[in-house]
Amino acid sequence: MKILICGKGGSGKSTIASLLAKDLETQGYRILVVDTDESNYGLSAQLGLEKPKELMDQLGGKKTVVDKMWAGRSAGEKAPIFSESWGIDEIPSECVSKKDNLYLLQIGKVKHFGEGCACPMGGLSKDFLTRLKLDPKDIAVIDTEAGVEHLGRGIASSVDVLLLVLDPSYESIRLSEKISAMAKEANKSVHFVLNKMDKTTADKISNKIGKERVVSFIPFSQTIQDKGLSGEELDTQVTDIAELTSYVLRTQQELN
Ligand SMILES: Nc1ncnc2c1ncn2[C@@H]1O[C@H](COP(=O)(O)OP(=O)(O)OP(=O)(O)O)[C@@H](O)[C@H]1O
Ligand SMILES: [Mg+2]
Repeated sequence: MKILICGKGGSGKSTIASLLAKDLETQGYRILVVDTDESNYGLSAQLGLEKPKELMDQLGGKKTVVDKMWAGRSAGEKAPIFSESWGIDEIPSECVSKKDNLYLLQIGKVKHFGEGCACPMGGLSKDFLTRLKLDPKDIAVIDTEAGVEHLGRGIASSVDVLLLVLDPSYESIRLSEKISAMAKEANKSVHFVLNKMDKTTADKISNKIGKERVVSFIPFSQTIQDKGLSGEELDTQVTDIAELTSYVLRTQQELN
């Protein structure tokens, strides 16, 4: 199963991706966290894993990947970068950092002034996720860049579950409408995780966005904020993530 986590900047996507990944791993699953965010570097620290070699670099860098996409094009369509499916064990070992059954892969980051747009990272993410074949006991947790660009690029087309993380802001509520509409175009539905708020605010927001699609509420936690400030690893003791884990496992059972 592939779970994509999206939301507004700073809403808590990477925090929730890390906590969910760790909790699912303790339930006996092999978890591949896929970092598709082209800008931020915090996810590996939150997971307590080393930064692996970026997949983009492994494939020869942005220019090589773009040349490959266009070299194989037909009728103006970019060609896929990979011709075959990948299982987790087939990913080049230098592109994965791991501890027990928790794996991290990074697609690629923007590193240099004036290096151009991040579209090649989006193309590579989409292609990688489409070709990623998972065993029944594997779950991919995909952390994304803030906003809607990944949905615009079609990264979500191969995922089974779309989770939108909302913090207590008007912008998050607006984004929930926009992402729901975009997901509908791809025949997907979005479920919501309310983060960094108190119960009264969570109830207010649930009433606005549709209670039936809210699958988890994670209150504001001073510990999470402090660990975020110092760039520390998050363990699952920092908050109760069980509601979200159960939702994911129920969905996993329905899919299998
Ligand atoms: N439930 C929470 N309680 C308190 N602080 C939180 C909570 N969830 C996340 N944070 C803090 O909010 C900040 C942003 O979190 P995080 O990096 O996970 O967001 P993000 O959506 O991934 O951001 P970006 O869009 O930059 O990738 C971090 O400092 C994190 O520690
Ligand atoms: Mg993030």
